[in-house]
Amino acid sequence: MNERSTSATGINAFETQAVGACCSVIYSHPLATWLIGESFHPGGLALTDELAALTGLKPGMRLLDAGCGRGTSTVHLAKSTGCDAVGLTLESDGVERGRQLAVASGVEDRVQFVQDDILHVDTGIGEFDVVLMECVLSTLEQKPASLRQLYRISKPGGYIALTDVTVSKNLPVELQGSIGAALCMADARDLDEYMSLVEEAGFRVKEYRSASEAVQQLIRKIGMRLMIADAAIGIGSLDVERSLIVDARNALRIASGLVEDGTLGYGLIVAQRVG
Ligand SMILES: C[S@@+](CC[C@H](N)C(=O)[O-])C[C@H]1O[C@@H](n2cnc3c(N)ncnc32)[C@H](O)[C@@H]1O
Repeated sequence: MNERSTSATGINAFETQAVGACCSVIYSHPLATWLIGESFHPGGLALTDELAALTGLKPGMRLLDAGCGRGTSTVHLAKSTGCDAVGLTLESDGVERGRQLAVASGVEDRVQFVQDDILHVDTGIGEFDVVLMECVLSTLEQKPASLRQLYRISKPGGYIALTDVTVSKNLPVELQGSIGAALCMADARDLDEYMSLVEEAGFRVKEYRSASEAVQQLIRKIGMRLMIADAAIGIGSLDVERSLIVDARNALRIASGLVEDGTLGYGLIVAQRVG
């Protein structure tokens, strides 16, 4: 993982990092949790539950949460559906953090966390009935190879269930670099392209829909929290560079316009492994 740059320009300090790594560094930042919450994708756990219902996830089934972030969905689904779950994390502290969450939720006997890259995830961790991928495919540099690897560790008839940021036109230049990466936009595709990628890896799409309303809700939530953060910096109760807040507010304003004109959205896909 690259070292954080010493530039004092807020999110732009991540400018030189690759999208996946950049995303992982940014989502490990305490400010990200404060702004977004523990569930790092639009739609939160309600959309996670919808994915689980579409795959019929239930006790005895094995779930892989690929790119599990803080392990929020991993632990939530183990608890709510009774499945066995593995959270795959890039972050060096992700295994311990996820384990602590599993213990706190009383599901540590059915939940495991593994540190690995989706691209190289070891078939030794088993075969899965459901692979969950929330706001991760957009960040992967090697999308076809990564999906192919997830196909290999899926059971025949198993599902891949994903939600992700969709981008249908070129992004404005302000969102093409690190800020776009932080918001999972920099290498996002449109829903049709995601479906083609999933099918080329050997899955057949069963369900898909736009879930773009979830992005507008998340933008509103972050916007309100940024206003609070700005006030907190003003009275000295939050120790964060103000430039970070200014960058984030600008990015959010642009993103909101892009959702309104249909360039930016969010999509859901559930597909089944054939053979
Ligand atoms: C936007 S966050 C979403 C986290 C989680 N799925 C959620 O919804 O709360 C994207 C996550 O993908 C992870 N990620 C990105 N590239 C990855 C890769 N190649 N292998 C494993 N995880 C990856 C990042 O570390 C980050 O935790």
